[in-house]
Amino acid sequence: MSSKKILLGIGGSIAAYKSANLVRIFKKQGISVRCVLTKSAEEFITAQTLQALSGEPVRRNLFDQQAEAAMSHIELARWADCLIIAPTTANLAAKFASGIADDLISTLYLAANDIPVILAPAMNSKMLLHPATQENFRKLQQRGHYILESASGELACGENAIGRMQEPEKIAQKAFEVLGISQPLTPPSPKPLTVTITVGATRENIDPVRFISNRSSGKMGFALARAALKRGLKVNLIKAYCEQIPPENCQIFPSETAEKMLDTALNIANDTDIFIATAAVADYRPKKVLSQKHKKERDGALHLELIENPDIVATVAQLPADKRPKLVVGFAAETENLKNYAQEKLAKKNLDFICANDVSQFPFGGELNEISVISKNDEKNFNAATKTDIAEKIIDYLLSKIN
Ligand SMILES: Cc1cc2nc3c(=O)[nH]c(=O)nc-3n(C[C@H](O)[C@H](O)[C@H](O)COP(=O)(O)O)c2cc1C
Repeated sequence: MSSKKILLGIGGSIAAYKSANLVRIFKKQGISVRCVLTKSAEEFITAQTLQALSGEPVRRNLFDQQAEAAMSHIELARWADCLIIAPTTANLAAKFASGIADDLISTLYLAANDIPVILAPAMNSKMLLHPATQENFRKLQQRGHYILESASGELACGENAIGRMQEPEKIAQKAFEVLGISQPLTPPSPKPLTVTITVGATRENIDPVRFISNRSSGKMGFALARAALKRGLKVNLIKAYCEQIPPENCQIFPSETAEKMLDTALNIANDTDIFIATAAVADYRPKKVLSQKHKKERDGALHLELIENPDIVATVAQLPADKRPKLVVGFAAETENLKNYAQEKLAKKNLDFICANDVSQFPFGGELNEISVISKNDEKNFNAATKTDIAEKIIDYLLSKIN
């Protein structure tokens, strides 16, 4: 157990709720935490919650005679081994950068001049990327403070962009590092989430040299795989025929036909958190696969009897809860009535999300795509962009829904 002491300042952002978890992580390691709230932060989290979790009085006002008598703000700054501001609002960053001390946190910041400072910004991406905010954080970094880069994802304002506060585990990790708390105290890193993506065009054999297939290129599936890898997720690819080479570091399950694809999907569904079905699976396959190459008969027509293929994504989505991935996501490529068909599929197949795309505007194999991610109660539109950009947004959106 550690005897370290942390002063945790909390600014007025929706992300303030995450600070409760940060306090819990520190307490589990035996670290003493004292919380200080700005006036705005009190709109988002109560002093009572933090007091209960930290077991210490929570400070809010600079001019609180009782609290000052128990431990003045100068003593409070001296008491701490490290100052963490999580969330750091744009306002706090501006005050720290220019040395304004007009409330308890900004005064403490100046008084805690000789201890490490860790800042975890959280704000709307426009606020974060504003030159004023950027300049303030640059100044603070030059002062030797640790600034935890904001993450991308869905923000409280509804935008899907950069600005989310780092997760409490990451902030705690930085604090352990800065305070020289050895590894055994570090919380075990959680098992990475696993995403399984079906990709490509299935090939349904007619005879040893012929098959029925379609024009799917696999680009969208590969873009999703890359986006997931970038976010540290484990990626399984159930791969039918694709023109391109799959990204490195994925586990690949070659599955040329719909039946093989279903078999593989059912085998790994249990170890999958997010199942995304981008593959263009042939709806039908020849009832009989000829063992020898079919010979052309003079003037004769060829009659192929086709039978229906299994619906892979629906079968996975309808698995019992203990075997089913947490999220099952389908793709609906349509040439008309896009949203109506997508809603129908969502309900009929028991999917959590369906990514609807209009292939009459953005054909298979192209570089661009425009997608609506539809769920029972929500619809998120990602306007025309490269498949890479859309994939990043889809993965961030799904990750924001899984926690
Ligand atoms: C609902 C809501 C959410 C807000 N979220 C943020 C935020 O995430 N980051 C931020 O910098 N400001 C946010 N603000 C604005 C700050 O609360 C505001 O600038 C305030 O003056 C910050 O005060 P403080 O820095 O003393 O906590 C939000 C305001 C509202 C009403």
